[in-house]
Amino acid sequence: MTDTALTRLTIRRPDDWHLHLRDGAMLEGVLPHTAAHFGRAIVMPNLVPPVVTGAQAAAYRERIMAALPEGMSFQPLMVLYLTEETDPEDVAAAHAAGIATSVKLYPAGATTNSASGVRDFDKVRPVLEKMAEIGMPLCVHGEVTDSDIDIFDREAVFIDRVLHPIRKKVPDLRVVMEHVTTQDAVDYVRDHHKNLGATITTHHLIINRNHILAGGIKPHYYCLPVAKREQHRIALVEAATSGDERFFLGTDSAPHTDPAKLQACGCAGCFTAPNTMSCLAEVFEAAGKLKNLEAFASKNGPKFYGLPVNEETITLVKGEPVSYPDRIETDAGPVTVFDAGFPLHWRVEA
Ligand code: DOR
Ligand code: ZN
Repeated sequence: MTDTALTRLTIRRPDDWHLHLRDGAMLEGVLPHTAAHFGRAIVMPNLVPPVVTGAQAAAYRERIMAALPEGMSFQPLMVLYLTEETDPEDVAAAHAAGIATSVKLYPAGATTNSASGVRDFDKVRPVLEKMAEIGMPLCVHGEVTDSDIDIFDREAVFIDRVLHPIRKKVPDLRVVMEHVTTQDAVDYVRDHHKNLGATITTHHLIINRNHILAGGIKPHYYCLPVAKREQHRIALVEAATSGDERFFLGTDSAPHTDPAKLQACGCAGCFTAPNTMSCLAEVFEAAGKLKNLEAFASKNGPKFYGLPVNEETITLVKGEPVSYPDRIETDAGPVTVFDAGFPLHWRVEA
């Protein structure tokens, strides 16, 4: 059967291996949109202040579970924010207790709330060595922050200057290159099999830098790492739809209120939680690879993290274009939903 003849697709319930849920009123507003489709998510720790210790992660997990509407099931997988002061023993204890699934490396200043991130990578070596020993993965925001490095080159330079040296010094460390945006990153993952995986976002499969900048600036398409030229988007689609188990979904759905996005210095982030599965089905169908959607969204991530795939399933149904609201209302303010820019024919059956 060709992809265009398919009108129903049942897959294991997907997981999101990179998600921003925030806290308080924003958490309450956005969580139901993820829990509607996803079984689990790796929850980013870049709150203000960041989630650094096991105790903070346990408390944050409780706030997430308290915000989950009755009748919904969802498992947050917690992440510790790596600082130069992080205690390897606290990390190991949080992992052993099932509180923390991974640790997140933000180069200082790379993105939203990353001021407490790492400046001197040698200072965190003892933590990385401990993680390698206990088999705990490191999630990496892969961009250098040097002001002399062009923003469109920051991922490729990070691979050479930071990622590759870390992986050579701590070869047993399992690393997830998060939200890869370049052909360079895809090639690096393909060429370096050992202990390496990568997440790809929904929006980076759909937009390139022209979508942000041509014909007027589109703040709702601005995220970090920033979308690159079309050649890179094509490489990401090829990697995501290939079935290669090293690539898996991490939406990086990152809600900011419209006033925070629409200003002279607007925040980075695309909010894709409500329509991600519709967007992905469209992208995979266009690539003639619907059969690999389940690997990307539901199977490759658990495999990398050593977790079982979800028992439940979801069914995607193709029909007349589905519409999503332009924005959702939260008690923190309105949040604009990612606009794919083309009709979405697939919806998740209720
Ligand atoms: O676009 C982004 N938004 N990229 C990040 O790395 C952080 C995120 C956020 O927290 O808003
Ligand atoms: Zn993120």
